[in-house]
Amino acid sequence: MFSALLATVAALSLVSSSSAVETRSVADPTPGKLRNVVENSGVCETTPGVYQASGYGDIASDGSIWFWFFEARHNPDTAPLTVWLQGEGGTSSMVGLLTENGPCRLNGDQTSVSPNPYSFNEVSNVLYIDQPVGVGFSYGSRNVTTTQGAAADVWEFLQIFFAHSRFAKFQKNDFGLWSERYGGVFVSTFASYFLDQNDAIDKGTVSGIKVNVKNIGLGGPYMDPLVQLPYYLDYAVGNPYAQLVSASTILAKARLWFADDNSGVQNCYADDGSNNIVCWDAQLAADQDYYRTLSGSFSPFHVNSNQTDLSTTPFLSDAALRQQIGALSDYTEDNIFVSYGWATAGAFIRNSRPILEGLINKGVLVGMWSGDADFNGNYMMTEVLAASLNTDATINFYFTPFSPYKVSGEQVGQFKQLGPFAYVRFTGAGHNLGDFSSGSLGKGQAALQFFNQTIHGQTISK
Ligand SMILES: *[C@@H]1O[C@H](CO)[C@@H](O)[C@H](O)[C@H]1NC(C)=O
Ligand SMILES: *[C@@H]1O[C@H](CO)[C@@H](O)[C@H](O)[C@H]1NC(C)=O
Ligand SMILES: *[C@@H]1O[C@H](CO)[C@@H](O)[C@H](O)[C@H]1NC(C)=O
Repeated sequence: MFSALLATVAALSLVSSSSAVETRSVADPTPGKLRNVVENSGVCETTPGVYQASGYGDIASDGSIWFWFFEARHNPDTAPLTVWLQGEGGTSSMVGLLTENGPCRLNGDQTSVSPNPYSFNEVSNVLYIDQPVGVGFSYGSRNVTTTQGAAADVWEFLQIFFAHSRFAKFQKNDFGLWSERYGGVFVSTFASYFLDQNDAIDKGTVSGIKVNVKNIGLGGPYMDPLVQLPYYLDYAVGNPYAQLVSASTILAKARLWFADDNSGVQNCYADDGSNNIVCWDAQLAADQDYYRTLSGSFSPFHVNSNQTDLSTTPFLSDAALRQQIGALSDYTEDNIFVSYGWATAGAFIRNSRPILEGLINKGVLVGMWSGDADFNGNYMMTEVLAASLNTDATINFYFTPFSPYKVSGEQVGQFKQLGPFAYVRFTGAGHNLGDFSSGSLGKGQAALQFFNQTIHGQTISK
C-alpha cells in the first residue's frame, strides 16, 4: 500500500544511522499527500491483528501534519472515527495517546509503555493529530494563531487522509472530535467549520470530502472566560478537598477580578476580532495576576493528590523509536512559541460559547465532563458554562437534578443528560480523566464507558 513511502523510510534509515543530524530535510513535503507513513510499526498497539499507521499529511509545502491512527479493536469498518486533540494550544496529542486514552500507557520510567485495556480504540477508530504545525512531530514554517486557521489546516489534513485508498472507507463512519480545557474551543470550532464546509460542498462552492461530524467531547472546557473565570475563586474555597489558598488571597483576587481584570475581558468580548492587543492584555491579567495564583501550592490538575503527570518527551525523543514510527522531526511536547502566538493573538480570552450552542442546535452529540479534583478545568466553571448554554436542549441544566453515574455497578460520579447533551462530574478525578481509576475499576475504564456512550448516542443512565 505504502511501498513508495516505505522506500523513503528505508532511505531515511540509512541516513540517520550514519549521523545524528535532523532527518527532516531528507524527504521534501508532497502537498496534498500522505508521506512517510509506517504501517503496523508494532509500537503502542500490540493487540494482534489491530491495524495502525503513523506519518504525515502534507497540507502545504510549509506544513506537515503528524498523525497516528489506530483502528478499532473490534469492527473497525463500522465503528466511529474519533480525532483526539490535546487541549492547551501548543501541546502534542501524543500526551493523550500515551497517558490518557491510547492503546498503550506510558510507564513511570517515562521510556516504556504497557498495553491499555481501556483505550478509546476498544470502541472507535482513533486518529491522534498534532496541530497546529510546530507542535509534537508536526513541522513546517507555517504559523497558525487562530482556531479558525487551525480548523482549516486540520480539515485539509482530513481531506488528504480520507482521500487515500487505505482510509477512504472511514468517510462514511460517524466522526467525532474530543479534547480538554481550551480544546473545548478546538473541537467546537473545528466541528462547526467542518459542517460549514459540508454545506459548501453540497452547494458546489467548495470541492472536497464531507466530514461526517456527529459528536464532540469536552473535558473541563474553557470557552467563555467572562462567565467562567470567577469560578476559580469559588473552587479555591469551595472544592470538596481543601481550601487552596488563604482567605486573604481569595479576597484580594476577588477584588482584583471584579474591580479591574474583568473589564479587560469585556473589552475583548466587545472587540470584533481585529484588536488582538486588547485580548492579549486581558489574557495576561487573568493569567498571571489572577487565576494561576489561586491553586496555591496544590497541583492545579489534581488537588486531591498533587501527583505530577508524566512527560512524553523521554519516550518520543528516542531516535530509534522515532524512526520506527516514521517521525521526521524532533518531538516538542509543548511548543511555547505556538502557545505564545495564540496568546498574543488573543485566542485564549475570546468567547466561543456561541459556537458550541450552534452545534447543540444542530443535534451534534455533546459529551462534557469534569473531574472534581481538577482546578484548571474545574467542575464549577464547567457547570456554569453548561448552565449558560442558550439552547432549547440545555436551558434547564441547573434545574435538572444529578443522577448517580455508575460503571460496572460502582458509582464514579454524577450526571445530567438533556437531549443531545450529557455531562458527568467524576468524583476524585483530576484533569486527566483517562488516568482516573476508582474502587475496583481500572485506569481509564470510566472514561471509556462515557466515551462509548456519547459516540453511540446512548443514554448514559446505568
Ligand atoms: C497537596 O499540597 C498541599 C499544599 O502543599 C498540601 O497542603 C496537601 O496536603 C497536599 N495533598 C496531598 C494529598 O498530598
Ligand atoms: C507567528 O505570528 C504571530 C502573530 O502574527 C507573531 O507574533 C509571531 O512572531 C509569529 N511566530 C513565528 C514563529 O513566526
Ligand atoms: C460500547 O457500546 C456498545 C453499544 O453501542 C456496547 O455493545 C459495548 O459493550 C460498549 N463497550 C464498552 C467497552 O463499553
